Amino acid sequence: MRHGEYGYDAPYALVTFGSLAVLSGLGAAISWWRMPSQAAPITLYFVLFLVNTTSFFYTTRRGKFLEWDRILDRTHMRGDEMVLDMGCGRGAVLTAVARRLMTGRVTGVDIWSTTDQSGNAMHAALRNTALEGVGDRVHIETADMRALPFPDATFDLVVSSLAIHNIRSNADRKRAIGEGFRVLKPGGRMVIADIRATAIYADALRTLGASNVERHRLGWRFWWGNPIAATTLLTASKSQV
Ligand SMILES: C[S@@+](CC[C@H](N)C(=O)[O-])C[C@H]1O[C@@H](n2cnc3c(N)ncnc32)[C@H](O)[C@@H]1O
Repeated sequence: MRHGEYGYDAPYALVTFGSLAVLSGLGAAISWWRMPSQAAPITLYFVLFLVNTTSFFYTTRRGKFLEWDRILDRTHMRGDEMVLDMGCGRGAVLTAVARRLMTGRVTGVDIWSTTDQSGNAMHAALRNTALEGVGDRVHIETADMRALPFPDATFDLVVSSLAIHNIRSNADRKRAIGEGFRVLKPGGRMVIADIRATAIYADALRTLGASNVERHRLGWRFWWGNPIAATTLLTASKSQV
């Protein structure tokens, strides 16, 4: 049961999918009324845009929360970890991590882009941590994940959800991955869910010396409209020295 309000990821993409569904739906209705013999193609577009809109809406409002609960369950946290969430936004993953902590703490960093998440702001994230009853275990900072303001080897676990792809260039995405790996303690783990460039993140981690680097595509609950826009889970460890 969630008590916070977590907004919509990539709200402009959702509005675009929804608008195309409405327009093609209107076009299909008019076609079936005026030229039924030619209505099939526009009806197909309507169905595609409707499915994309529904999938995107489901993922951003419910699916990603369910998937992250499963992902975090599989990390078997002890409850005493120091955790970093890179690009925490309004706190969907941050609060899920915090619920699994006892003596540990989770830090969220973000630059608060409202293009990437609706209503994105530090006060919205703080409000959600209070509403979920985990405010005592959470610290939130404004920081760019390409230059994290933390010493080396600070965290036991670094997580990131749907955030790194928002950085424009692959060089800067690799910089963010490098920063996440730098602040990880030896023996620590990285767990990243993202779209598009996860193979590049995996290569960057291997180059940095990460072990157990694995990637796999997550299921329909984490699709952003269709299977082509599925989320991939990337996990890696930092070897003990
Ligand atoms: C789609 S939202 C996802 C937020 C959150 N992880 C979640 O799953 O609800 C992407 C987030 O990444 C943040 N972000 C984008 N570029 C960033 C950067 N360079 N450093 C830190 N955060 C960044 C955005 O501000 C936004 O909050």
